[in-house]
Amino acid sequence: MSWPVGVSEDERRHLFEWRDLTYSVGGKKKSTAKAVIAGTSGRARPGRLLGILGPSGSGKTTMLNILAGRIDSSRGTALSGAVTFGGEAWSQGGGMA
Ligand SMILES: Nc1ncnc2c1ncn2[C@@H]1O[C@H](COP(=O)(O)OP(=O)(O)OP(=O)(O)O)[C@@H](O)[C@H]1O
Ligand SMILES: [Mg+2]
Repeated sequence: MSWPVGVSEDERRHLFEWRDLTYSVGGKKKSTAKAVIAGTSGRARPGRLLGILGPSGSGKTTMLNILAGRIDSSRGTALSGAVTFGGEAWSQGGGMA
């Protein structure tokens, strides 16, 4: 795993990151599936303010719900990607690795 350059050990231990989050609804078939989130990555640094901008319907609330563990892979939906805290799989909510 590569850490951002210039990040202190303390910051690394409190870094919340998500990689390649992908979420689709409407079945597993490509013809019916609708991508709500397609390969989104980001990080929240401790002690820093983070803003999420995007037009209505771009998936901001859905992404936050995934990060909060309020959405997981269920029937008719597909969720993939990685969420980590301090470099470890974060599983307090959705149980994603
Ligand atoms: N379970 C679902 N089934 C079908 N469509 C969904 C589902 N969840 C989200 N969507 C669709 O995914 C898109 C993203 O919605 P979301 O509410 O995350 O956007 P948003 O960026 O928060 O918008 P806003 O700025 O209006 O709050 C919308 O088109 C929404 O209708
Ligand atoms: Mg919203």
